[in-house]
Amino acid sequence: MDLAILGYGVVGSGTARLLEKNRARIAERAMQASLRLKYILDIREFPGDPFEALVVRDIGAILGDPDVAVVAETIGGLHPAFEYALACLRAGKSVVSSNKELVAVKGYELLQAAKENNANFLFEASVGGGIPVIRPLSQCLAANEISEVAGILNGTTNFILTRMIEDAMPFDRALRMAQERGYAERDPGADVEGHDACRKLCILAALAFGRHVYPEQVRTEGIAGLTPEDAAYADKLGCNIKLLGRGKRLPDGRITAAVGPMLVPRAKSLLACVSDVYNAILIRGDAVDDVVFYGKGAGQFPTASAVVADIIDCARHMDKRRFFEWEQGGPEFVAPAEEDVVKLYVRADCEDSLAAQKAILRAFPGAAFLETQGAGEIAFVTMPTRDGGAREALGHMPGIEARMIMRVAEF
Ligand code: HSE
Repeated sequence: MDLAILGYGVVGSGTARLLEKNRARIAERAMQASLRLKYILDIREFPGDPFEALVVRDIGAILGDPDVAVVAETIGGLHPAFEYALACLRAGKSVVSSNKELVAVKGYELLQAAKENNANFLFEASVGGGIPVIRPLSQCLAANEISEVAGILNGTTNFILTRMIEDAMPFDRALRMAQERGYAERDPGADVEGHDACRKLCILAALAFGRHVYPEQVRTEGIAGLTPEDAAYADKLGCNIKLLGRGKRLPDGRITAAVGPMLVPRAKSLLACVSDVYNAILIRGDAVDDVVFYGKGAGQFPTASAVVADIIDCARHMDKRRFFEWEQGGPEFVAPAEEDVVKLYVRADCEDSLAAQKAILRAFPGAAFLETQGAGEIAFVTMPTRDGGAREALGHMPGIEARMIMRVAEF
């Protein structure tokens, strides 16, 4: 059986190298006499690369070759990844992808195309790098009603936060290190601003709750506004700051979904201690209760590990369809994150701290104040409150300017 890889970047080249390194074992597990990498599609040239001879520039070479049964899409981004993946499925080839943007935006369409063409579209590598979570969520936990998925879904930002907090490393240097290690997206803004975590949350939510969730339906905040003061306040509360994505089923059948930095209590939550490039994904089911998946969420070989596993799965099931499916989404399915009832941490500038405390207690009865770290600043944690109402109230408090608002995680 022949294979093709679309995109020879960090993940694509890792996939080629892993296929070569464990060739015999991979073919045996795929129950094939051989699994031969025949083409690598890229617009660049790779002089001296061991796979140089396989590089083609025209997708037509792959589409027109009936021996190519499985195609790994590792280009990233929406275009031309979507057009190529769709064309491969329509040509009856199975497609595996590490591309979270592709799955988060076009997953429903591609799964439909796979179904119509009796092929498979698999994407284990799109969430959590090398962590097995897509299959466990959709197969091993299939007996459960899932009420919640939450997790640290971006390795780059977790690496940056860890370096900033544990080593007092400046943000820019930590980001550079993450880029050098192959963790960051081509545009690291996607990591830092939370978009990458948002796309992964969309995929998990679609699998957990059964309908497509689109990135624009998920309130998304990044880590750029965090300061060392926030980390120090969090520490005093016994918390670590983590960029978390969370999707939750509401009693009325809708869900809420949000991505943002949150305070995670060290004494209560496994997620608080997840450092460096590691990700952790918590899934709450009515039969199983909480399960947590942990591992390297980014990097060449952890991600290639999941891509190759999908290739093996496709090769083993050429005539069968793997069960990955969800229904089309819609605006009525996702409630605004502002409807969530949560505890909030707030750091604000204030002119007169005594007057500010009184005003805050009027708006947020039971709020707990933190020992401030400088004049003209106030920090507090609210009792559970409606997210949107609290933000609205903070926007209208005379003499108080909120600089950072973060949820306190209760999982
Ligand atoms: N940039 C992503 C991350 C890569 O840091 O998690 C893996 O999806």
